[in-house]
Amino acid sequence: MIKAVIFDLDGVLTDTAVYHYQSWKAVAAKFSYNLTEHDNEKLKGVSRADSLNLILEWASVTLPQEEIPQLLQEKNDHYLLLINELGQKDILPGVLDFLTLLESHNCPKAVGSSSKNAPFILEKLGLASRFAAVIDGNGVKNTKPDPEVFLNAALQLQVLPENCLVIEDAPSGIQAAKAAGMKVVGVGHELTEADVCVSSLVGLDWDQIQNL
Ligand code: BG6
Ligand code: MG
Repeated sequence: MIKAVIFDLDGVLTDTAVYHYQSWKAVAAKFSYNLTEHDNEKLKGVSRADSLNLILEWASVTLPQEEIPQLLQEKNDHYLLLINELGQKDILPGVLDFLTLLESHNCPKAVGSSSKNAPFILEKLGLASRFAAVIDGNGVKNTKPDPEVFLNAALQLQVLPENCLVIEDAPSGIQAAKAAGMKVVGVGHELTEADVCVSSLVGLDWDQIQNL
């Protein structure tokens, strides 16, 4: 039985992937690497530091360790500029109705995100007060596909992992949820490891999630 729902943020509550893409593309261009949308798919759910490592690997660039923090800062400054206008209008379709549905069943909700900007983005979207716990990239040692972020969320909600449902758009996040022993709804296409894959949260209902 599902007693709690843990939401990924980027790609589930709002679509920030395009802004991550634009700001990483600018970093990659410094190394004459043309970051493609296909590359960007592989960065979904991956932490900021791990994303930079992947890009440097794809660009066949090795940097002195001391240059890394500056690049990460630049990427984030650019990203923060791009998401400055984010607001309630940017909440993805079906999210608000699904949150209300869970509230009508007294089902606790958490956010489990790799992003260190998650609290800021939740405030911008006007969603912060809807979640009993927010576990983000600042609070975990091992990022997705490690299950730590979702296990921490379950602990904070005081619900056993087997009674938690995760909503995720990224393969790394789906692997993390499965490794935590949780059920997963995948949002997007070809998320074969999820228990069910939907194109959006529109119409997702209580019986459906109880029967996964
Ligand atoms: C994830 C995104 O939610 O957060 C990744 O899918 C991103 O693309 C990661 O790299 C870390 O985000 P941030 O905001 O801490 O740079
Ligand atoms: Mg995501």
